[in-house]
Amino acid sequence: MELKKYIPAFLMPAAKKVYFLFFDMIDTLKGSRDSLTPPRSLIFVGLGDFKQIGNEFKKYFIELGGLKPDHRVLDIGCGIGRMAVPLTGYLTKEGGYWGFDIVKKGIDWCEKHITKEFDHFHFQHVNIYNKYYNKKGTIVADQFKFPYETGFFDFVFLTSVFTHMRPAELENYIKEIARVLKPGGKAVLTFFLLNLESKQLTEAGRSLLDFKHQITENCKTTNLAIPEDAIAYEENFALSIINKNQLTVDSPIHYGSWCGRENYLTFQDLVIVKK
Ligand SMILES: C[S@@+](CC[C@H](N)C(=O)[O-])C[C@H]1O[C@@H](n2cnc3c(N)ncnc32)[C@H](O)[C@@H]1O
Repeated sequence: MELKKYIPAFLMPAAKKVYFLFFDMIDTLKGSRDSLTPPRSLIFVGLGDFKQIGNEFKKYFIELGGLKPDHRVLDIGCGIGRMAVPLTGYLTKEGGYWGFDIVKKGIDWCEKHITKEFDHFHFQHVNIYNKYYNKKGTIVADQFKFPYETGFFDFVFLTSVFTHMRPAELENYIKEIARVLKPGGKAVLTFFLLNLESKQLTEAGRSLLDFKHQITENCKTTNLAIPEDAIAYEENFALSIINKNQLTVDSPIHYGSWCGRENYLTFQDLVIVKK
């Protein structure tokens, strides 16, 4: 049901809450939600099937990114465990999983439900400011040093996180990814990349997202009031930051369907980099 059609904008958050609580209640009564799926009313990482999206990315991590069961893995902006949950059946104690996020309720849920069963899965809350996700944050992302040793990880990923971060924050995070990765380690990053094709499709009215507001020369948003709602980068700019930080793009970029492309891998653009 499209709630937007029937409910005034200012009532939407409350309406959504009631809507999701209703379905949570039905799931509970039917016993149809397993212990590793959060209630719908707690999920804040976007619409779509929580399990199906996690499984889809697990496949990309393994088949495209070369993720191995004994790797040490870092999930930056891990949300409420959408990517962590499917990895519980893959990563062994030889390696392990570390995730951090700026939304406390996501980390609390992950610790309570995932770490409790899988003690090689570690979650950490960091109170970083983001106008969309954490308005009360006190730490700035463009200065934040990841709480891990240099060269600790074999594999790093960010799914739908750079699409909510500003340029100076992106630059710092790429620098930090390069620091915490081992030589030879890989990272899977998703973006909305502005290039000739995505711009032409947007102009033709085919894109689901209209990045019409400029934040900086290389960065645009769909929403000027809350830019972190959805952020896109000029492809050349994003690649130049990657290259400046001892990282190289490891395979062709897997472009996404967000702008109305007919040939795509997934919704966002997926970039695999290697140290
Ligand atoms: C669309 S959600 C995706 C969550 C998760 N990666 C997934 O795919 O399920 C975006 C996430 O980025 C997180 N985030 C935003 N800014 C961040 C930052 N500076 N550092 C870490 N996480 C951040 C948000 O809290 C939110 O959990």
